[in-house]
Amino acid sequence: MAQTTQPAAEIGVIGGSGFYSFLDDIEEVLPDTPYGPPSDPIAIGGIAGRRVAFVPRHGRDHRYPPHKIPYRANLWALRALGVRQVLAPSAVGSLTPDHGIGTLAVPDQLVDRTHGRAQTFYDEGAAIHLSFADPYCPAGRRTALATAGEAGWPPVDGGTLVVIEGPRFSTRAESQWYAAQGWTLVGMTGHPEAVLARELALCYTPLCLVTDLDAGIEEGEGVTMEEVFRVFAQNIDRLRPLVADVIKSLPEDRTCPCPHSLDGMKLPIPLP
Ligand code: ADE
Repeated sequence: MAQTTQPAAEIGVIGGSGFYSFLDDIEEVLPDTPYGPPSDPIAIGGIAGRRVAFVPRHGRDHRYPPHKIPYRANLWALRALGVRQVLAPSAVGSLTPDHGIGTLAVPDQLVDRTHGRAQTFYDEGAAIHLSFADPYCPAGRRTALATAGEAGWPPVDGGTLVVIEGPRFSTRAESQWYAAQGWTLVGMTGHPEAVLARELALCYTPLCLVTDLDAGIEEGEGVTMEEVFRVFAQNIDRLRPLVADVIKSLPEDRTCPCPHSLDGMKLPIPLP
């Protein structure tokens, strides 16, 4: 395993728009992977005795738009460093007036409306069909929900995140259609990140910060990038410590189904 030559980490954090740094006293590594380098050098440090690896999803200078993020390289590199549990903070729009700006949500379902993104590690040599009925780690979700509640930021438990291709925001009609399906959140990066984590038998837990009401939900101009970044910046000082608290509370033993997602499969490539 690659962690013999690199500093090991057990928990990975993939930071979203406006979440470009996380840890103090870090070592940085830029591992190569069969899928190229990750979005940026990976920072490795410690929080309460847990070893943590942080990668900013879009790169520190936000140079990767959602459809160009090297999702496979990021997940592969994290696993190669020893990571087994991934926390994934991101900015999302709300599809319901019930979840206002500044809401923290931990969805339990995902709808993929992206296209053309590489969404598997296993595209040659053998067909691998993984279960993805419940896309997120139940133990990670429980921990995130309990920790946020204790921190005084009561989160929304559950809901469906629809992931659009972007990089543009939705039209009003698209947004109203998503809402009419009962979907509650809209973002651009939650897929294929979650399924790639599952393909590497990693736990994956989304932490969604609502930065805006999506175009069909609110009258006016529609969502702007400026609004998303402004609201994220207003919340980053409570999101960072919350992620640190979730890390402290994550169970060390993985009793969830995630480590078994590949059991019995004859993988065409060895895992890192
Ligand atoms: N990220 C933040 N807000 C969003 C929205 N309204 N649609 C898609 N992605 C988003």
